[in-house]
Amino acid sequence: MKEFPFSDSDFKAISDKVYKACGIVLGPHKREMVYSRLARRIRANNLDSFSAYLDYLDDHLDEEFSAFINAITTNLTSFFRENHHFEFLKDDLIPLLLKRNQQSKRVRIWSAGCSTGEEPYSIAMTICEQFPKTWDVKILATDLDSNVLERACRGEYSATNVTGLSDVQLKKFFLKSPDGSLFKVKSEIQKMVHFKRLNLLENWPMKGPFDVIFCRNVLIYFDKETKDQLFEGYYSLLADHGHLLIGHSESMGKEHTEYKSLGKTMYRKASYASI
Ligand SMILES: C[S@@+](CC[C@H](N)C(=O)[O-])C[C@H]1O[C@@H](n2cnc3c(N)ncnc32)[C@H](O)[C@@H]1O
Repeated sequence: MKEFPFSDSDFKAISDKVYKACGIVLGPHKREMVYSRLARRIRANNLDSFSAYLDYLDDHLDEEFSAFINAITTNLTSFFRENHHFEFLKDDLIPLLLKRNQQSKRVRIWSAGCSTGEEPYSIAMTICEQFPKTWDVKILATDLDSNVLERACRGEYSATNVTGLSDVQLKKFFLKSPDGSLFKVKSEIQKMVHFKRLNLLENWPMKGPFDVIFCRNVLIYFDKETKDQLFEGYYSLLADHGHLLIGHSESMGKEHTEYKSLGKTMYRKASYASI
């Protein structure tokens, strides 16, 4: 017997709200996940059922809606996740950008769906020291979930969060707390990353152009229509030589001939290949 009544129509109402607000598709297999994540919100608000929570949500949109969405998002991430993308950045993209952007001396990278910050900080760790000091190099990191962004801005990670990093990387990029339990990203790395809240389904205030866009393990939650819309949006914000990197289980339909696949979920503007 479950703690809170949860009917099919409650699940449908929740799925519809989530899809409308942020494009995340909650199929029937996500029902248990939705139950356990929202049960916490029901308890926090002293309610006794999902239908009472839905009424509460409608009446308290300002206070509850972001907590509702934050509870639904999946924020799993890690430093240098899918490391081949960081190798590609270091070995191929940095040399390309040093040449292509010689005039502007400007480099812009966007981590779209950055979660708790491990992805944009890994980008910063990869590119720091690679461009002359006179260059203007910035990483924009955005997410819909205000809780993860708050943690990302703090840049503090537990020892478990940094297990994949070498001692050299830890020493170079982090300050360790005296008891060894916390690792804080050094300020020179933090300064390269600018965190902003952005729902990918809403208007994008940025003008670009971006040299590289990372949108990894985010598209997986969306349907084809939303993905296609995002691929088009990214295309219009990418520089002529721009690259788009997506997650290992994500793919772009063959109809997106505006992009050329480079393998391993890496894409660049097709027009660039013929320049
Ligand atoms: C699994 S994490 C991926 C983190 C990182 N990119 C990585 O690959 O490790 C997915 C992130 O996408 C964010 N997200 C989901 N829907 C979004 C939307 N509509 N707009 C912006 N971010 C969204 C979630 O909040 C979550 O932090």
